[in-house]
Amino acid sequence: MPYHTIIEPFKIHSVQRIAMPGSDEREAALRRAGYNLFGLTADDVIIDLLTDSGTGAMSAAQWGAMMVGDETYAGSRSYERLRSVVEDLTGMPEVIPTHQGRASERILFSIVAEAGMVIPNNTHFDTTRANIQFQGAEARDLVIAEGRNPSADHPFKGNLDVAALRETIAEVGRDRVPLVMVTVTNNSGGGQPVSLENIREVRAVCDEHEIPLFLDACRFAENAWFIKTREAGYADHTPRQIAQEMFSLADGITFSAKKDGLANIGGLLVMRDAEIAAQCRNLLILTEGFPTYGGLAGRDLEAIAVGLGEVLEESYLEYRIRSIEYLAEKCRDAGVPLVWPPGGHAVYLDAKALLPHIPQSEYPAQSLVIELYREGGVRGVEIGSVMFGVVHEDGTEQPAPMELVRLAIPRRTYTQSHIDFVAEVVLSVAERASSLPGYRIVEQAPWLRHFTARFEPI
Ligand code: F0G
Repeated sequence: MPYHTIIEPFKIHSVQRIAMPGSDEREAALRRAGYNLFGLTADDVIIDLLTDSGTGAMSAAQWGAMMVGDETYAGSRSYERLRSVVEDLTGMPEVIPTHQGRASERILFSIVAEAGMVIPNNTHFDTTRANIQFQGAEARDLVIAEGRNPSADHPFKGNLDVAALRETIAEVGRDRVPLVMVTVTNNSGGGQPVSLENIREVRAVCDEHEIPLFLDACRFAENAWFIKTREAGYADHTPRQIAQEMFSLADGITFSAKKDGLANIGGLLVMRDAEIAAQCRNLLILTEGFPTYGGLAGRDLEAIAVGLGEVLEESYLEYRIRSIEYLAEKCRDAGVPLVWPPGGHAVYLDAKALLPHIPQSEYPAQSLVIELYREGGVRGVEIGSVMFGVVHEDGTEQPAPMELVRLAIPRRTYTQSHIDFVAEVVLSVAERASSLPGYRIVEQAPWLRHFTARFEPI
């Protein structure tokens, strides 16, 4: 079509009211929450960009499928439907449902990882890292150098540094690397994609050493779209063909259905190896449930089975990736510093560059995230020194490498005018950036402090 505007490829069938707290109410909410946006309630927030996880809208087809969900405890029809969809997509026969991605990670790493081992990844997501460390193993990030530089232009900033992978295996020894992971897209590195060429190179290194390769496939469909539009030779492939090629290079996947499963809950642990899968199922029964439902209701399995089809529709992916880029372009064109090129599910504002007057010890990304809420009720998430700063025993802190604010866009949930509004809020805060204050922490937990810490403006 000769038109410029890429429209939402759906019409709205059911709506949810957005609360419209005024500026006095937002100020009161901030004070009540100790300036921590995790302490806000849904009714405090106008546009919620805290996460794209489980916050998307399901389709009429998904809701319809839920009505025929089969709640049989063992051998549910809904499991059989999901299993066949997943096997067709991944080519992997062992399909284990879990309640969400981190449950898949916990089960997998309880079985394959132990103290002294190293698990390489482009960048581990927090829960993956935590589950690896919980086993006493090391989670090592080996993303390419461009992936660590917010403004370095590269089509696949999520690629894993293959030379660094070789060095890691040589350094720690093949027996202490139980598997290699690649996260598609690389959420902790800005939602950046990984090329098929890179996955193929990683596979070759794994083959040389007989090490299994697992994908953290939470955003596999978004990654497939980037391959289609950026990698030579794939323009004529369908997203499904590209996804199938990605999966054909892996031995297994961990998956959160709350992202590219287009569902509100659910996860998967999928693999080729029947023996490891049997061990995983034994652990699954201990905490998640019987292997044909794994902590989910039959209706959830149906929603995921349908979602895995819808997420690969070209009109959906074109709209999805374009809607993130649209917000990112509006910010960039107004001179707001951000991670560029934009990723597949979120825009990451660079608070260190926008607020050079706030030292990292006074949490510039926290200041920005607070101000976006104060200005327009927009809730993002701080990804900086509050989340990743290292607190030493003497109370001093080592700041995080970057000070980012992530604005994650829920799937099929907000319209273009919502996004226009978000851009206006970002631009208006950016205009008065030099007046934003730093913050100090007045209360914090010994770990994962970002969820509950309380702050005070300086
Ligand atoms: N891996 C990646 C790359 C993720 O982004 C997430 C979740 C998980 C694993 C864990 O999945 O939440 O279903 O247990 N990311 C969410 C986010 C929470 O906001 O980025 P889960």
